[in-house]
This record gives sequence, C-alpha cells and structure tokens, in this order.
Amino acid sequence: MFMVSLLAQTNGVDSFSGIDGFLGARGSLMLDIVVLAMLVVLVVMAVSIWQVKYRQRYELHKRIQLTLAFVLLVVIVGFEIDVQYVSQWEHRATASPYFDQDNSWSCPAGMGLVIHLMFAVPTLVLWVAVIYQAWQHFPNPAAPNEHSFTHRRRARLAAFGMTMTAVTGWVFYWLAFVAT
Ligand code: HEM
Repeated sequence: MFMVSLLAQTNGVDSFSGIDGFLGARGSLMLDIVVLAMLVVLVVMAVSIWQVKYRQRYELHKRIQLTLAFVLLVVIVGFEIDVQYVSQWEHRATASPYFDQDNSWSCPAGMGLVIHLMFAVPTLVLWVAVIYQAWQHFPNPAAPNEHSFTHRRRARLAAFGMTMTAVTGWVFYWLAFVAT
C-alpha cells in the first residue's frame, strides 16, 4: 500500500496517476520502459538467432535467450503492477483522438490494444514452452540433436510472435499516448 501511494505521484497539471515516462508522450514510466525494452529485445533476439544460424554458437545463443527471458520477466511483472495497480492507461489516453472513454474497447486505440494482446498472450505461452523444451531436450552445453527440428519451427514462430507483439505494442502506444 505504501509502495502504491509512493508511486501514485502526480505530474501537476494533468494529474495522471503513476509516474510519468521519459519519451515525452503521455505514457507512464513503466509503459515507456516497455516500449524501449521491446526494441532492445528484438535487436538482441536477432543477434542471438544470427549467432546460432550462421556461426553455430549454440551455447552463446542459449545464454542470450535465457538472459532475455529473465529481463522480459522482470519488465512484464513491473509493467503489470503499474498497469493493474498504479497508472490508469485510459486516463492517460483521453487526449488522443483515437480513444473514446465510452467505447474504450471498440475505439481505434482499444482495438489496437486487443490486437496487441492477441499477439502478446500466445507469444508469452509459446516463449515459455520453447525455453522449457530447449532446456529439457538439448544437451549441456547446448548443441543440435533430435530436438533441433521441433525447436527451429517453434522458435521461429515465437520470434515472429515477439516481433508482432512489439510492433502492435508500438502502434497501440502511438494511438493512445502520442497522437493528439
Ligand atoms: C524463446 C527462446 C528461443 C528462441 C526464440 C530461439 C530461437 C532459435 C531459432 C530461430 C533457431 C534456428 C535458427 C535457424 O537455423 O534458422 C534456434 C536454434 C537453436 N537453439 Fe534456440 N531459441 C530459443 C531458446 C533456446 C534455448 C533456451 C536453447 C538451449 C537450451 C536453444 C538452443 C538452440 C540450438 C542448440 C539451436 C540449433 C538447432 C539446430 O540448428 O540444430 N535455444 N533457436
């Protein structure tokens, strides 16, 4: 409770709940961190896949993916605490021409959020499954084996899902918190 009230500072004029972000838009601090983190995740994921595909650096790929998963977990937990208990994204979106308080799910910003969630939720499940199965089936240190075929197929789908999660997340952010 103390943490929540500590975090529920206001920015004076607009009096948004939660801490304001740093991107110069109306996003909260955690929203802005996630927007930036998704860019880092995509770049690091691309490096990791390039390393395994063209340089056969399996152990490096494994370490990068596990680190990425840990960082993502921390960011998602922080983000969920912010969105569920501290900041009200609807309040921050009211100045957007693409947001309508009375039709919050069917207005363009709301639909943008629904489309984003349609990628984000299945990708989270697939991501956890790919890591768990890779952890279970590949040897230590990591190297190709009979799990390779399954891993390549599912991991490519997971990477595509993560890319779409980021892109749709950025579109939603723009519709709700940047557009005026
Ligand atoms: C969600 C996390 C992960 C993603 C998105 C991912 C992605 C990929 C992709 C796309 C490839 C295929 C590259 C290609 O040839 O086109 C690959 C290969 C591989 N990954 Fe992962 N990976 C993940 C986690 C892991 C983990 C945790 C391990 C080890 C425990 C691992 C071990 C390997 C190995 C050994 C290969 C080579 C398979 C082969 O070509 O025979 N990966 N990964």
